[in-house]
Amino acid sequence: MKEGIFITVEGPEGAGKSTILSELYEQLVKDGYDVMQTREPGGISIAEQIREVILNKENTAMDKRTEALLYAAARRQHLVEKVIPALEDGSIVICDRFIDSSLAYQGNARGIGMTEVMNINQFAIEDRMPDLTLYFDIDPEAGLQRIARHDGREVNRLDLESIDFHERVCEGYQSLINQYPERIQVVDASRTKEEVFSAAYEIVKKFIE
Ligand code: TMP
Repeated sequence: MKEGIFITVEGPEGAGKSTILSELYEQLVKDGYDVMQTREPGGISIAEQIREVILNKENTAMDKRTEALLYAAARRQHLVEKVIPALEDGSIVICDRFIDSSLAYQGNARGIGMTEVMNINQFAIEDRMPDLTLYFDIDPEAGLQRIARHDGREVNRLDLESIDFHERVCEGYQSLINQYPERIQVVDASRTKEEVFSAAYEIVKKFIE
């Protein structure tokens, strides 16, 4: 059977990617595709448990390399337990965040270095990179304001970082966009939800077909 397609969705805080991802999932199911929606860190029990440790606001003592290793550990388990089996079944897997998040957040924003973070992740992913990545582009300040307005979205340990941190996250993503111009497609996320959805859907449909 033909191997599935691995699509990841990336962006800074408040880019609206999770909402659009769910809408993409529903539309692709309606279109008749075999699709699986998942997220990082999490998506399966072990990785959701690691997520709680990483994002817990009480864990202020967490070292940045510990943080990077925990994200990589959650990634590994999620990949082998959920993503790879679905791809082997021929499904389209849409995942909210993947390795680019670690490169931008831990590599660039935390200052560990993108190459170092790539190396530890290589151990976790064994060359399994996304086929397509949608980058939801929004000014970090506008993104954080969106979160502040958003009822129900719990504020996590990383949301509490300074605006400088979130600017470095976007800078990290920008260098990944330059490095992987074919894989990473940029979606202007400052527009209305409907406009962002249709731009994202168009890119995905074109890629699948
Ligand atoms: P979420 O808010 O999109 O669910 O992501 C959880 C947080 O974890 C978000 O602040 C981004 C951060 N993150 C990293 O710092 N590194 C990673 O590798 C991943 C997957 C997420």
